[in-house]
Amino acid sequence: MKTIYLDNAATTPLLPEVLETMLPYMTEQFGNPSSQYSLGRQTRSAIEEARKNVAKLIHAHPGEIFFTSGGTESNNTAIKCSVRDLGVRRIITSPIEHHCVLHTVEDVEHQGVEVVYLPVDQEGKISLSSLRQLLSDTSKKTLVSLMHANNEIGTLIDLKQIGDLCKEFGALFHSDTVPTFGHLPLNVQEMQVDFLSAAGHKFHGPKGVGLLYVRKGIGIKSFMHGGGQERNFRAGTENVYGIVGFSKAASIAYQNIDNDILYTTKLKNYFIEKLRQIHPDIQFNGPTDENALYTILNVSFPKVGDAAMILFALDLEGICVSGGSACSSGANAGSHVIQALRKESDAVNIRFSFSKLNTIEELDIVINKLREKFVE
Ligand SMILES: Cc1ncc(COP(=O)(O)O)c(C=O)c1O
Repeated sequence: MKTIYLDNAATTPLLPEVLETMLPYMTEQFGNPSSQYSLGRQTRSAIEEARKNVAKLIHAHPGEIFFTSGGTESNNTAIKCSVRDLGVRRIITSPIEHHCVLHTVEDVEHQGVEVVYLPVDQEGKISLSSLRQLLSDTSKKTLVSLMHANNEIGTLIDLKQIGDLCKEFGALFHSDTVPTFGHLPLNVQEMQVDFLSAAGHKFHGPKGVGLLYVRKGIGIKSFMHGGGQERNFRAGTENVYGIVGFSKAASIAYQNIDNDILYTTKLKNYFIEKLRQIHPDIQFNGPTDENALYTILNVSFPKVGDAAMILFALDLEGICVSGGSACSSGANAGSHVIQALRKESDAVNIRFSFSKLNTIEELDIVINKLREKFVE
């Protein structure tokens, strides 16, 4: 049975070209980048090349890029260091952030930091005027932490608009760009972000590697203590092959980004249209237009026919989709994102997430399977 993978928001398959770039660093190029001899200097140089490359892709300076173990570590670092080192006493965030942001802000709340959750509407959108109103109170040093696109329903925010607002009121701005890095152009200069997080495995790179962009002059101190790696910021021998793979995957992602966006958007729109033809009560969580990331579609299936068994039935056919974010996938286990939308419904919510590797033929197979479940 051929697998049909429509869970690209959970993780993506590694591209063969990326693996090929990584392999030498798992075999003959094994030197510790901190070693002074040639074998070490070669891996050091590979890391610095990767840093330069990814910096360029997001219009950053190489000195502003820190490699980490992934999105979770990057988000934890940005938030915790802002509180510890930058005097942040208030965090403005939203109830639909990833748990690695929500649980981190809960943790700093126990240390006396005020946490304010911006309400979201039924499509997961925040209100800019509410944000402006909150920011106009400048009595406490504030960090705004908002994800670029929601990983369950796709809702996007305008980073530039929010970056400008934060600048206007002297607040720091962190964005979890894990779902969008490699999928949308990012320009840290224009967007005025102070911190930005990314993870390699979301754009056909390896797992266990990510980055944190930290705007020059922000002045946060070591997060991991030990050796002097990552310019004394994050100690520990570097994940050389991961970093090299991250950089290669990012290059490929941005090489043809306009075409890839067009192609994947077409897939998503085709799928939406076909779903609408299956049953009139099939609805969507989050916007279905350009206000949502083109890779993510969260569908609300009415409980008619055999619909309650959709996730199970698709799995039996080798079709991979998610009943929530990856941490609760496999079960439609009360997603905090869907709950925050406050919809009165007991529908079955399923996230389909696409990549440039998917095809119309695959979508047709999935649509046919779904149609079978709606025969009453
Ligand atoms: C929006 C978002 N942020 C952060 C993460 C965590 O990234 P990682 O798995 O690399 O730690 C994820 C992963 O699912 C995510 O979707």
